[in-house]
Amino acid sequence: MQHGNYADEPNKKINWHIIRIIWPYLMEYRNRVLLALGCLILAKLGNVIGPFILKYIVDALDAEKTQLIVAPVALVMAYGLARFANVLFGELRDTIFGRVTEGAMRKIGIKVFRHLHHLDLDFHLNRQTGGLSRDIERGTTGISFLMRFFVFNIVPTFIEIFMVVGILFYNYGWGFALITLTAVVAYVWFSIAATEWRTKFVREANIADSASNNRAVDSLLNFETVKYFTNEEFEARRYDHELAKWESARRKNRLSLFSLNGGQALIISAAMTAMMWLATSRVAAGTMNLGDFVLINAFMIQLFLPLNFLGFVYREIKGSMANIEKMLQLLDITNSVDECAEAKMLAPPIWDIEFSDVSFSYRPDRIILKNVSLTIAAGQKVAVVGASGAGKSTLIKLLFRFYDLDRGSITIGGTDISHVTKNSLRQAIGIVPQDTVLFNDSVFENVRYGHPEADDTEVYNAICLAHLDNFISQLPEGHQTLVGERGLKLSGGEKQRVAIARTILKRSPVLVFDEATSSLDSKSEKAILTALREVAEGHTSLVIAHRLSTIIDADKIVVLDHGRIVEQGSHEALLERRGHYADLWFAQQKEQSQ
Ligand SMILES: Nc1ncnc2c1ncn2[C@@H]1O[C@H](COP(=O)(O)OP(=O)(O)OP(=O)(O)O)[C@@H](O)[C@H]1O
Ligand SMILES: [Mg+2]
Repeated sequence: MQHGNYADEPNKKINWHIIRIIWPYLMEYRNRVLLALGCLILAKLGNVIGPFILKYIVDALDAEKTQLIVAPVALVMAYGLARFANVLFGELRDTIFGRVTEGAMRKIGIKVFRHLHHLDLDFHLNRQTGGLSRDIERGTTGISFLMRFFVFNIVPTFIEIFMVVGILFYNYGWGFALITLTAVVAYVWFSIAATEWRTKFVREANIADSASNNRAVDSLLNFETVKYFTNEEFEARRYDHELAKWESARRKNRLSLFSLNGGQALIISAAMTAMMWLATSRVAAGTMNLGDFVLINAFMIQLFLPLNFLGFVYREIKGSMANIEKMLQLLDITNSVDECAEAKMLAPPIWDIEFSDVSFSYRPDRIILKNVSLTIAAGQKVAVVGASGAGKSTLIKLLFRFYDLDRGSITIGGTDISHVTKNSLRQAIGIVPQDTVLFNDSVFENVRYGHPEADDTEVYNAICLAHLDNFISQLPEGHQTLVGERGLKLSGGEKQRVAIARTILKRSPVLVFDEATSSLDSKSEKAILTALREVAEGHTSLVIAHRLSTIIDADKIVVLDHGRIVEQGSHEALLERRGHYADLWFAQQKEQSQ
């Protein structure tokens, strides 16, 4: 299964692949990118002009011959302007480019979200929500960072460095240029080497971060269970255990950052000292005047500051790449249940369903269904009964094509379900699942979820049919009452009725009820069963039930035992056989009379 290696270390090779993925998003906003680049050039120009103006100011002040105060004033104004231009165009650049990064973040975010929802049950049963959301968050932030800094930092900083080196060489000979170049090379080499060495600490910290988030989310989702077992302290300890790992990973991270920054500072300081020494000795020797000294100093600061920043950017880019890769790995996970290329839409009306010789196992070492053959004729109601764990719900998951079969086939309306699109197949089947989980929205919207385009009247009708109206009228806020996360503010039976109303609203030709009324008292159950009978009229339906009294009117009853069909027939026929079903029936009858 592909998702197994989702947590693996991202490999280094696919960095270009990331650039390739980001490129189209940049191109989409071509004009904006160009405009932002224009601002960047203007900002840099202001940056390079500044030191020259400074030199002339100093020279003007220094030369005794200048009596006019005008020249320095004009120069001072120009200097201020150059600085302002530098900052202003820098800000403009960021503002203009913001749209590009946000647009890309949105597009990639929705792409990942879509992809996750297209992945099948198997992925979602194995995922960890907390870590997953963290990975996506880090990934999209990484994209924004990468775009901004790659375009506006790495390339321009290098251009600036070469410009300054050129100016120094042209004006003052090879001495300064050589020191600068050596420092830049040493700095870049050291930064890359040290960052590579640090990567494992960064990754460790990220993994610890996701793990602790997983722990927190999982624990908070299960708050009810935590309280029932008064395990608050236990949960806190487990979370703290993860946090401790995170703390220690961050510590290593920080210490390695310290060595990186320390090394960088050493290189820069050495270079600055060397340049200062050279400049001082030349001024002393009279081959350079004070203005040149100031110019060199200004360039030095201007050069080494962004260089210092470059170290940070490189580190962050590496981190971003790792984060993006982690997110993109999600996109690489493929569905284990594939749609074939020539899959067609399942067209209504859909009639019969046939399981023929179906064998299935979730894992190779344990077979769940063995040679199950079962026909549900058009408009018929077929019930499946059997012990817990016999594989009843599994039959439904297979019908929905959440998993591929090991052997045999399932056909619906005469077409193999593997030859139709999963969407059209799933639209054709309405289900009331065994456990209903609701969205944290109003009761009304939760019902409408069965058919989002339905108008209010249709939703009200479904609510009435599912006998929810009585319950809703008791609520202070009526059908606008929020149901809480996962629907936990409703009782089990209420949730079941919401699920039934949803399914009624969906109006699919095939209906499946997986213990749809198991949480209801017998009076409500009776009322709903009557309603369901009306709804199911003319539909092909599959019913799973523990309480046999609810399915005696089924056209056929199938008894499943350890994944095999052991008996099938009508209620009367099965009673006469005096087999499994009859035993179950009499046992339940006896229980009831007691
Ligand atoms: N995703 C899964 N991975 C591995 N095993 C699974 C998975 N889902 C279900 N099983 C196993 O398959 C068996 C059949 O499960 P199924 O849900 O079909 O039972 P059931 O007949 O509906 O039982 P119940 O009446 O309790 O709902 C169970 O033993 C269960 O542990
Ligand atoms: Mg079940």
